[in-house]
Amino acid sequence: MTKSELSAHISVRDLTMAYGDFVVMRDLTFEVGRGEVFAIMGGSGSGKSTLLRHMIGLLKPESGRVYYDGVDFTDADDEQRTQMLRKFGVMFQGGALWSSQTLAENVAFPLEEFTDLGEEDIRETVALKLALVGLRGFEDFYPAEISGGMCKRASLARAMALDPEILFFDEPSAGLDPVSARRLDELILELRDSLGTTVVVVTHELASIFAIADRAIFLDASTRRMGGLGDPKTLRGQTDNENLRLFLNRGMVGLQLSHDPATGAPFVVAPGRRKS
Ligand SMILES: Nc1ncnc2c1ncn2[C@@H]1O[C@H](COP(=O)(O)OP(=O)(O)OP(=O)(O)O)[C@@H](O)[C@H]1O
Ligand SMILES: [Mg+2]
Repeated sequence: MTKSELSAHISVRDLTMAYGDFVVMRDLTFEVGRGEVFAIMGGSGSGKSTLLRHMIGLLKPESGRVYYDGVDFTDADDEQRTQMLRKFGVMFQGGALWSSQTLAENVAFPLEEFTDLGEEDIRETVALKLALVGLRGFEDFYPAEISGGMCKRASLARAMALDPEILFFDEPSAGLDPVSARRLDELILELRDSLGTTVVVVTHELASIFAIADRAIFLDASTRRMGGLGDPKTLRGQTDNENLRLFLNRGMVGLQLSHDPATGAPFVVAPGRRKS
């Protein structure tokens, strides 16, 4: 690998992913920089969740490798792997909280499991993490007693419990109303800016991609290969991959768009309503 590829926080090289004989994607090669928000985009079934699972070691590559700070993760021994895993925070697709536990108990779980912190330190850390996601004072609430957006933020607090260097999200805003989805996007950017966390986010929400991603990869289901890599705002005007162009511009047909005055990023105001 070259020096810049080695210095990347995450480096994926020639990754081919398969379930048995069924190849989902071939030859994915890309890097994620430290402190970058990197989106994995693509249509339903294109392999976004599968890629995320490979990146965190839940699935083994058919071929190819994943490196963290230049260290081979795919072939790491158990001890090295455990050390690397400690740096990850993960919010899975539909990432539910344990419904029989309070928010505080949910967030405390990784701390109890993976640290030697005492009860008082855990209580303080939990309070801090919940405050970080705007849930100060909700320690004793059960998931059923708060809104969907608040549940997502609580699972973000749980993913942040061990101060991860990298946060992985699978469809964080799925099922949220547009306002809650935007708040979650803002929160992700705040975490990146205040803590320098690297963020890898799987999403097919166009608004979210334009709002938060520094760079993105497009998984093209029709060719089972990478269909584009770069800043989504640039890709939108410049890609010569027709599927990616349609994917990034579908908002222009039939969706009402507005623009963030600060960044110029487009976002959907009224999904499904026609521009008249
Ligand atoms: N455990 C599995 N065994 C076999 N095939 C699977 C398995 N999980 C996923 N697949 C298949 O692999 C392909 C990619 O699935 P994946 O869940 O990664 O897609 P996705 O891009 O995350 O889709 P979505 O947007 O719907 O979440 C799909 O064709 C899916 O049917
Ligand atoms: Mg998925």
